[in-house]
Amino acid sequence: MEVIEQVSTLRAIVTALRCGGKRIGFVPTMGALHEGHLQLLRASARENDVTICSVFVNPTQFNNASDYNLYPRTLEQDISLLQTVSCDYLFAPNAEEVYPQQSVLQFSFGALEAVMEGAHRPGHFNGVATIVSKLFHIVQPHKAYFGQKDLQQVAIVRQLVQTLSFDLELVCHPTVREADGLAMSSRNKRLNATQRQLAPQLYKALKMAKRDLQQKSVTAIKSEVAHYLTQVDELELEYFEIVDPLTLQPLHDVSGQEEVALCIAAFVGEVRLIDNMVVNLKED
Ligand code: PAF
Repeated sequence: MEVIEQVSTLRAIVTALRCGGKRIGFVPTMGALHEGHLQLLRASARENDVTICSVFVNPTQFNNASDYNLYPRTLEQDISLLQTVSCDYLFAPNAEEVYPQQSVLQFSFGALEAVMEGAHRPGHFNGVATIVSKLFHIVQPHKAYFGQKDLQQVAIVRQLVQTLSFDLELVCHPTVREADGLAMSSRNKRLNATQRQLAPQLYKALKMAKRDLQQKSVTAIKSEVAHYLTQVDELELEYFEIVDPLTLQPLHDVSGQEEVALCIAAFVGEVRLIDNMVVNLKED
């Protein structure tokens, strides 16, 4: 695997690959890689001729300086992991390389970003859209892989790809979980031992909500989840929403819906975690 730090170097490689008819799979990450990322990388290696991964902790998508500063950075370990999954190129630029001048670009995703992560993390999706657009232009992938844990991010990137006519296929892979149900996330590395034990309560709350979807009202389920989580020490619920999985707009009644998404965000200590579950009401 070749590690590349310069945009110009990667551009030259991508041009040669595309001229040679190679299909490029791309997995954008912020590093601190875990099994969830590795599954995306394995899928890319299976489905493309060449796989490129990026590791870049993107400053413009953090609305909180301490979250940015404390975000885990484990490049050496990431390189070792990437070597186990047939990754061909790692793009690991520094911030000056990606942002030679400050970006003032503004994206608007309308209703899609007015809820959940967009509402609680102002500017977050503007930063995500900026970096993802830049990376798509540099890497020019045929397929780009994202995890369902960031459901709203996937919806935003889908809208970005459609609106800006990026010529690529977006692939969304199911969330990968630890044995106790905790969704894999780079931020889990910041949990202390006690918090790590408490964190799977988010998944338990989602399962409880799923169980009650056919019997109880949306309001009743939301207050049940809130009540359940107030009993967990060190855990502070930020939101729990039942939404349409495509528009991500909150639902007040699930009857008539084929599918719903249950979405949750909570602080476990200082660490903010998100999770979601898409439920097919006709089958599940
Ligand atoms: O999901 C992430 O890790 C990041 O938001 C992404 C897509 C790599 C953009 O920085």
